[in-house]
Order: sequence, then C-alpha cells, then structure tokens
Amino acid sequence: MRVTTTVNGTEQVADDVWPGESLLYVLRERMGLPGSKNACEQGECGSCTVYLDGEPVCACLVAAGQAQGRDIVTVEGLAEGGELHPVQQAFVETGAVQCGFCTPGLVVAAHDLLTRVPRPSDPEIREALAGNLCRCTGYEKILDAVRLAAERQAQA
Ligand code: FES
Ligand code: FES
Repeated sequence: MRVTTTVNGTEQVADDVWPGESLLYVLRERMGLPGSKNACEQGECGSCTVYLDGEPVCACLVAAGQAQGRDIVTVEGLAEGGELHPVQQAFVETGAVQCGFCTPGLVVAAHDLLTRVPRPSDPEIREALAGNLCRCTGYEKILDAVRLAAERQAQA
C-alpha cells in the first residue's frame, strides 16, 4: 500500500507499507525521521507523540493507513530555520534531557500545552504531561523546562 502524507510541511510518500505498520514505524524507518522514539509501542509512554491534524497522538497506536492524506508534525518539525524551538531550547537549558528517550514526546506535549494554555499552573503542566513517562529526570527539570518556555513565550 502507498501512504501519502504531509510531514513537517512536506509531502512524503511511503511505498509497500504493510497494513499492520504503525505511523511511528513509517516515520522512523521509511521517511527518515527518527526523532519520535519507540519505547513501548503500546501507547503507554508517550515517547512517540506527534501531531496528527493538529492533535497530539501516540504514533505507535496510529495505523499507517490512517495517516493517508493527513497532516503530521513531528519533533523535528518544531525547529525552524535550523534553530531549536523555544520549548526544545528550554529542555536543553534546564537539564531536562538525560538519556533523551522521552524528550521528543515531552517536547510535543509541552508545545501543545503552551499553545492552548500560555501560562499553565504546575497542576496543569503535570496533567498535560501525565501520559509521558520519564525514567531519568524525576520530572522536576521537565517542569522547570515548561515553566521557562512559558516565561519566555510571555516575554516574546
Ligand atoms: S512508543 Fe508509543 S506510547 Fe510508547
Ligand atoms: S530523559 Fe531518559 S527517559 Fe526521560
């Protein structure tokens, strides 16, 4: 099966896609976009989070065929003109990236939160990121990253 999608603003075509393949597999293995991580493949960890028509989803739970004709933004697509997105930059600066496996999904989830709620409270941040698991950081630095990104967004 052929799957045609728009990924990060560019049309992407994948041929010979098996009906059981996930969107995550197609992005990573067929479209050369390894930013979204494959940690559990069961919708439990959030490390594969991407936008699908503007909604954050676990790409491991989306069948590749369901992505036909739709608009996808991955963590790679948040950076602009070779510059990290302010959310990505905040994760780096606050030490919220350790092994980095959870980071792409957290960055997309935090980006979505700050788009909807520019100055989130701590409980709102925790709730928005509840579906994203991190085994390294203890989450405190991730909260710092979202607070910093929100602060910078408010000053911009
Ligand atoms: S790899 Fe998709 S939720 Fe864990
Ligand atoms: S930084 Fe390692 S899982 Fe989060």
